[in-house]
Amino acid sequence: MSTRHFLTLMDLSVDELHQLIERAMELKHLQRQGKIHESLKNRVLAMVFEKSSTRTRVSFETGMVQLGGHAMFLSPRDTQFGRGEPIEDSARVLSRMVDAIMIRTFEHEKIERFAEYSSAPVINALTDLYHPCQLLADMQTWFEQRGDIRGATVSFIGDGNNMCHSYVNAARQFDFRLHIATPASYRPDADIVAAAGDRVKLFEQPLEAARGADLVVTDVWASMGQEEEQSERQKEFAAFQVNRELMDQAAGDALFMHCLPAHRGEEVTAEIIDDPKSVVWDEAENRLHAQKALLEFLMV
Ligand code: CP
Ligand code: NVA
Repeated sequence: MSTRHFLTLMDLSVDELHQLIERAMELKHLQRQGKIHESLKNRVLAMVFEKSSTRTRVSFETGMVQLGGHAMFLSPRDTQFGRGEPIEDSARVLSRMVDAIMIRTFEHEKIERFAEYSSAPVINALTDLYHPCQLLADMQTWFEQRGDIRGATVSFIGDGNNMCHSYVNAARQFDFRLHIATPASYRPDADIVAAAGDRVKLFEQPLEAARGADLVVTDVWASMGQEEEQSERQKEFAAFQVNRELMDQAAGDALFMHCLPAHRGEEVTAEIIDDPKSVVWDEAENRLHAQKALLEFLMV
């Protein structure tokens, strides 16, 4: 069978995604019980980071160690990645030495090209277009709290960015309704949205998008690589803050998620992120468990 990659949520079937979430919950349980489970003994994961990270790096590195393997951090500053070695060559060389490769980079095309030439599984740990690993953790968190997400209404408020695009794919794969509110010039990619059909609706009024939602999600207004646009975006997105007024539009038992890092007082108020409806700390922890399930799925 040809090498499986995880570049977007569409790379796994609906069944595989559900099984992966189940496995993530099992692995979390084993971990809680202090049981050693070394399904990836002596396996090596290379982690290429062209952008900063706290959660992604720590969760992948910890996950590999807990599964009996090893994770190797590679930065463009001190590898040939930063000196222009062709992606095709790096992919062929690295995949002859390690068992899987995780990449966080800018252009999504870059990771696609890398995967094309890699004989080992490639994992997207965030590109400008998608952040699928975060969605595994978000879905695990929902399933733990509420069971199946099928038929639920999720409201994504803010920028039509990599997180928003991965929520669109999640709506397709996990079969939920997604209401996205963005300023008119920050809508998600039209083709990605169109592929989701009538499951996804676009709004310009955040309060309308939040009405009746079972889950409210937001993300930073300026993503990594957009730092220079920060002050302009702060003005454009001012009405798109997740605050008490917005959460009051959602269902009474709605949950709040944010992939973190968060800017309290910008895209979300401190009150909401610290509210009992907020499950952001479970969501962050679940990066570890969901990615352990992903690593097993791709490598065992
Ligand atoms: N949510 C997330 O991917 O966090 P990091 O940027 O810290 O990895
Ligand atoms: N949209 C954010 C997510 C960070 C985890 C970014 O790309 O910077």
